[in-house]
Amino acid sequence: MARAKIALIGAGQIGGTLAHLAAMKELGDVVLFDIAEGTPQGKALDIAESSPVDGYDASLKGTNDYADIAGADVCIVTAGVPRKPGMSRDDLLGINLKVMKSVGEGIATHAPDAFVICITNPLDAMVWALQKFSGLPANKVCGMAGILDSARFRYFLAEEFAVSVKDVSAFVLGGHGDTMVPLTRYSTVAGIPLPDLVEMGWSSQEKIDAIVQRTRDGGAEIVKLLGTGSAFYAPAAAAIEMAEAYLKDQKRVLPCAAEVNGAYGLKGLYVGVPTVIGAGGIEKVVEIKLDRDEKAMLDKSIDAVKGLVAACKEIDDTLA
Ligand code: APR
Repeated sequence: MARAKIALIGAGQIGGTLAHLAAMKELGDVVLFDIAEGTPQGKALDIAESSPVDGYDASLKGTNDYADIAGADVCIVTAGVPRKPGMSRDDLLGINLKVMKSVGEGIATHAPDAFVICITNPLDAMVWALQKFSGLPANKVCGMAGILDSARFRYFLAEEFAVSVKDVSAFVLGGHGDTMVPLTRYSTVAGIPLPDLVEMGWSSQEKIDAIVQRTRDGGAEIVKLLGTGSAFYAPAAAAIEMAEAYLKDQKRVLPCAAEVNGAYGLKGLYVGVPTVIGAGGIEKVVEIKLDRDEKAMLDKSIDAVKGLVAACKEIDDTLA
């Protein structure tokens, strides 16, 4: 059987890391597309030259021509600009919306059957716009954020409890912004929910609250440390998990930005929710039970995403 084809739209920091991970995991052949000449070609060749050392089979190609993504099974989109210290993800909206328009057209023309994973920020609004611009079915267009936000939450919790990250699961709902909703009740160490662990005296409420806030600020923490650009290792790892779930029909239950229709009282909005990802793309949106406080936090986050979507419609009236 022919190998799967993975097209990476944007060959910057995340794009290069995605290419390396996809090739090393032998998920398929990789095409790196970028408007910058030389960058995708150089990264593809550099990674390909590591394949004899690491012993994986994957072909890698860099290109500035959308025609080369033809027939891609998966497209992962990182085209656009990252934030600088002091900027919020929302500050990127105007410039990255234009990028989504050209990327949407490129994918619609050359890879209309692909499963599309958007990473470009501000995530929830950009993936919404990308779906509209591309015209691809909503179950085939989603955004990566929840796995990254949950991974940050899990990492901080594992540090706090001094246990393996493997035994920590965590839940983050809502938009990929300052209003994201880390859910402590649904986050566990070896199946024990965080509130029970606090009661057991393994941590304190203050410490958990601080971790929740650090999770919300996780992206900004990296932006500040790096000085230029934003996080790329963890975002790439998270998107690869989604691509693998699709390509291998794993039916993974993963949080991601998906179009929500009906659940959570929403109609056609993209926001971070638990989903099932398999060969059908986003096969299911899972509606979990929320208490009053959790619902209020989610509503606030949804309002923030709605505000960004409204801003997109104002900038580009074809979206209205
Ligand atoms: N089409 C294709 N590629 C583009 C376009 C476009 N219209 N516009 C910009 N690019 C490319 C740039 O040339 C650059 O190589 O997108 C790449 C972005 O790479 P980086 O600047 O290194 O940014 P990165 O860290 O990879 O983040 C990309 O993901 O997490 C988000 O906020 C982040 O929006 C940002 C995106």
